[in-house]
Amino acid sequence: MSNGLIKPLSLPASWVIGWREIDEDHEIILQVINGCIAAYDGTTVVGFEDEFKALRDRVRGHFDHEERFMEHLNYPGLRWHHAHHRKWLEHLDDLRATCSRKGYADYDDILVCYDQVLSDIVKADLVLQSYLLEIGFNKPQTRLGAA
Ligand SMILES: [Fe+2]
Ligand SMILES: [Fe+2]
Repeated sequence: MSNGLIKPLSLPASWVIGWREIDEDHEIILQVINGCIAAYDGTTVVGFEDEFKALRDRVRGHFDHEERFMEHLNYPGLRWHHAHHRKWLEHLDDLRATCSRKGYADYDDILVCYDQVLSDIVKADLVLQSYLLEIGFNKPQTRLGAA
């Protein structure tokens, strides 16, 4: 359900990074954003505190997974990407605090989440995708530390 405004997000093939853990995380994060979109009743996001907390928790865990993978690869962009992730979390925390103060989250607040997700996956993580292609990364898509 799109509420006639933002369409629910789905992960296009061109956004697939090539490491299962990251791609699964992205899919789940998009589903959490879709939950925020579905919770929008035309005025506010019903239960926004729980929705935004779920988003924050998922994104935080995902950033840890992604940075662990980058460390494993000796990815040259890790330092920049780590700073980008920290800024993303600060931005989301600011948004949550602002919404808590005003007592609601509205359509513009959903748009901020939506834009932030796109800024990580599209603008930042696709640089990692290009790097994996460049180095010919072709390992089985398993989790780090998996047997
Ligand atoms: Fe990511
Ligand atoms: Fe990222």
